[in-house]
Amino acid sequence: MRTARPRHYLMCRPTHFDVVYSINPWMDPRKPVDTPLAIAQWEQLREVYLSLGHTVDTIDPLPGLPDMVFAANGATVVDGRALVARFRNTERVDEGPAYHDWLRAHGFPELRTAEFVNEGEGDYLITGDWLLAGTGFRSDPRSHAEAQEFFGRPVISLTLIDPNYYHLDTALAVLNENTIAYYPGAFSPGSRAVLQRLFPDALVATDADAAVFGLNATSDGYNVVLPHNATDLAAKLSTRGFNPVGVDLSELLKAGGSVKCCTLELRSAG
Ligand code: ARG
Repeated sequence: MRTARPRHYLMCRPTHFDVVYSINPWMDPRKPVDTPLAIAQWEQLREVYLSLGHTVDTIDPLPGLPDMVFAANGATVVDGRALVARFRNTERVDEGPAYHDWLRAHGFPELRTAEFVNEGEGDYLITGDWLLAGTGFRSDPRSHAEAQEFFGRPVISLTLIDPNYYHLDTALAVLNENTIAYYPGAFSPGSRAVLQRLFPDALVATDADAAVFGLNATSDGYNVVLPHNATDLAAKLSTRGFNPVGVDLSELLKAGGSVKCCTLELRSAG
């Protein structure tokens, strides 16, 4: 039996969402974006979280920061300690201070902005024992040692090699303390071997699941919220005793983001 544990999430309404620059292969500024539809889809995701019993806080979206909806990138928050993002791309650097201010104002005194490029939960995922940390496209490998020192939790460095899966959370989902799902094709051979060694029981996603951002999912230990068209992955989750909950975030995928990208988990101390 799987058990759900209520979560505390931070989200950012896509009020100013658009695709006006390209910093990953999904983003094509020539393709039209339907911002009202993006907002409706995001509201749906928020409703799903509330219906599952989670707490959802929101940070005010800032004009001129169209990617700010991807709250996962704002920080990594573990044991009540917050390591605030330092973005690689100039288009997103101003998001860091916004998340810093929000966290300071909402009861996270143990916070600091990362010294090295660190895109928060885009590249840092937490299991029971480890911080799984991605590099290759965004977060600087030196940020991994910085995060280990800051959180006092062992960091497992993983190298991403496919530009379509430029953040760790586009290729790997943590389902509970010791279960993950991932897409092997996104990782270097050595990182794939590390994942096999640490997680021999992992759910392995197909090319098709990965291509619809099926791994960009959140889990409360039982309910796994993921893109609705990741059907093979949803079936595998059911077989393993999880409850897949599909949502449609097609507009946000135009910026290379989905469920997990829109969700920053705030983990309190103790
Ligand atoms: N357009 C954004 C970027 O490329 C998408 C970020 C997606 N967030 C994530 N956690 N993977 O930075």
